[in-house]
Amino acid sequence: MNIGIDALACATSHYCLPLADMAEALDVPVGKYHVGLGQEHMSIPALDEDAVTLGAQAGARLLTATGTEGIRTVIFATESGVDQSKSAGVFLHALLGLPRHVRTVEMKEACYGGTAALQSALGIVARHPKEKVVVIAADIARYAAGGSGEPTQGAGAVAFLVSAQPRLLNIPAVSGVYTADINDFWRPNDSSTPLVDGHLSMDAYMDALTGAYDDYLAQGGIPAAQLARFVHHQPFGKMARKAHARLMAHTNDPRGDEVIETGLTYGRHIGNSYTAALYIGILSLLGTDPADLTDTPIGLFSYGSGAVAEFFAGIPVAGYRERLRETGADAAGVAALLAARETIDFPTYRVLHGALRTDSADFSTPPQTTAPFRFAGVSCGVRQYEVRAEG
Ligand code: CAA
Repeated sequence: MNIGIDALACATSHYCLPLADMAEALDVPVGKYHVGLGQEHMSIPALDEDAVTLGAQAGARLLTATGTEGIRTVIFATESGVDQSKSAGVFLHALLGLPRHVRTVEMKEACYGGTAALQSALGIVARHPKEKVVVIAADIARYAAGGSGEPTQGAGAVAFLVSAQPRLLNIPAVSGVYTADINDFWRPNDSSTPLVDGHLSMDAYMDALTGAYDDYLAQGGIPAAQLARFVHHQPFGKMARKAHARLMAHTNDPRGDEVIETGLTYGRHIGNSYTAALYIGILSLLGTDPADLTDTPIGLFSYGSGAVAEFFAGIPVAGYRERLRETGADAAGVAALLAARETIDFPTYRVLHGALRTDSADFSTPPQTTAPFRFAGVSCGVRQYEVRAEG
């Protein structure tokens, strides 16, 4: 029985900052961002957006196309959690009007959380083939202003349905996994921005890639030479390029960036979206690669600082492009989503950045986002969300 991703939808935030503006404001050569990091824009959330509203936006697109029949589990992966106890998925369950008989949890291991959720979902469907699992991966990547991570910020969400006989991406059972206790990037409970050792994190990412790949091969995985494309977790495009070069050297494979290029397009304009970044990369590959990738194995690498990683494969199913169109996640749909963002200038971004905290919106904050869901503030300690008629 094939199990995998039956449909995939995405969302991003209301605002967008061109990195050219940041470069000018900070007196940094723009080439450092465009070429050195491989990034052009970053999605910036409005004050009334958070991981829940972004995830709900993607989830609504998904469920409008797929319906809710057979769904008995929702797994919400995020490292932008809004509560230490209650799952972000429970807020989303209500916003999307999901049926009562659903188990709903939140999962966390930095950017790897989305893949942990996917693997859990695959296991549930293997045990209950008639059931479907909704996975949401949503994050706001927010670093300290003036820090090295600032130009790699972003915001985005994906929602996907995991089922038997998937119509988008079959996920074979073989996986390579890797864990190492490394202090490369983490966010203590009392901090709204992560602590990062940027260059250590790049080394940790690349060690995890070869470590997870070696385990993948040892488990009987498809050798890299037979993988036609690769999508690596992309905190910024250059990281994926460096990692890919390391993997190709590790496997004596002469192929260059041509096998990762189309997977980098969307991330270049969204920025890091942590748990969602790999899946936005998969959308980018499936939506923009000119080749017909039907039945062609693609190497997928997920990395979460701390650090946990996984190397696995995805095989696009016949008709995958039409399937993307049904959730608005084809190339035209994603281009429209990105174009719909409101472009802001650097000073406006910095004001938002300074104000952006999980409890910052309150009922006196005028609505900013035009998305269908908005965070409306905290009342008696309870987070309030609104479903908007328009959006
Ligand atoms: N034109 C072209 N390129 C230029 C340039 C110019 N004018 N000026 C500099 N560059 C190049 C540099 O040569 C360098 O490229 P190479 O690495 O290929 O040599 C690149 O721009 C970046 O320059 P620096 O290394 O000097 O950049 P930095 O130190 O200011 O920041 C970083 C890099 C530390 C990774 C920073 O972006 C950061 O802290 N990011 C957050 C952490 C992160 O994303 N880590 C990735 C692995 S961890 C992970 O993947 C999990 C996750 O999502 C967070």
